[in-house]
Amino acid sequence: MTGLFVTLEGIDRSGKTTQTALLLDALGDDAVGVREPGGTPAGERVRDLLKDPAVKLSPEGEALLFAAARAQLVRDVIRPALAEGRVVVSDRYLDSSLAYQGSARGLGVEAIEAVNTFATGGLQPDLTLLLDLDPAVAASRAGEEDRFEQAGLQRKVHAAYGELVAADSRRWRRIDADRDPAEVHHDVLAAVRAAREAPAGAAG
Ligand code: TYD
Repeated sequence: MTGLFVTLEGIDRSGKTTQTALLLDALGDDAVGVREPGGTPAGERVRDLLKDPAVKLSPEGEALLFAAARAQLVRDVIRPALAEGRVVVSDRYLDSSLAYQGSARGLGVEAIEAVNTFATGGLQPDLTLLLDLDPAVAASRAGEEDRFEQAGLQRKVHAAYGELVAADSRRWRRIDADRDPAEVHHDVLAAVRAAREAPAGAAG
């Protein structure tokens, strides 16, 4: 029995965290929720480091820390849950690294892919939901600033997600996030239910 691996992606303030919580609620006991970076004791420590604007990090150092947290999460949480046949919902996964570090920070999507293939053993999501929001609208939403919140970076990340969707449209579903959270949730849940009902290996 294999489960279903669902990831939510989007620029900062696109509402992923709210939507992850609503989705987990709707799926009930069958589902396991994780967030990136984090989700394990080591990963949460790495998260604190990454989110602290006072900690100076090179783009390479940043990319490797995200990958390190992900490696731990895949081995300790995601693979075991999938092996039990559960639905794993992750608030961000490797596409965040491809978009933020690979594209927006300029490290190159291929280099980041290589590092992450090593980190995850090649584990890919069955379904990835892009909460699509214009960067200008996202900037007007309230929230805490961290090292990733500069407007220019968010525009680059937004464009990078567009390229990722175009390159692998089978795995991705684009969802308009500039709506009431309940409406967005409706589409998120519908996409996950459709993927669960599809035969194995045909989530898209
Ligand atoms: P977080 O508070 O989780 O933001 P959000 O709720 O928007 O997901 O902070 C995570 C930040 O880290 C976010 O700005 C995106 C960034 N990030 C990367 O740059 N690369 C990655 O691989 C991941 C997982 C996150």
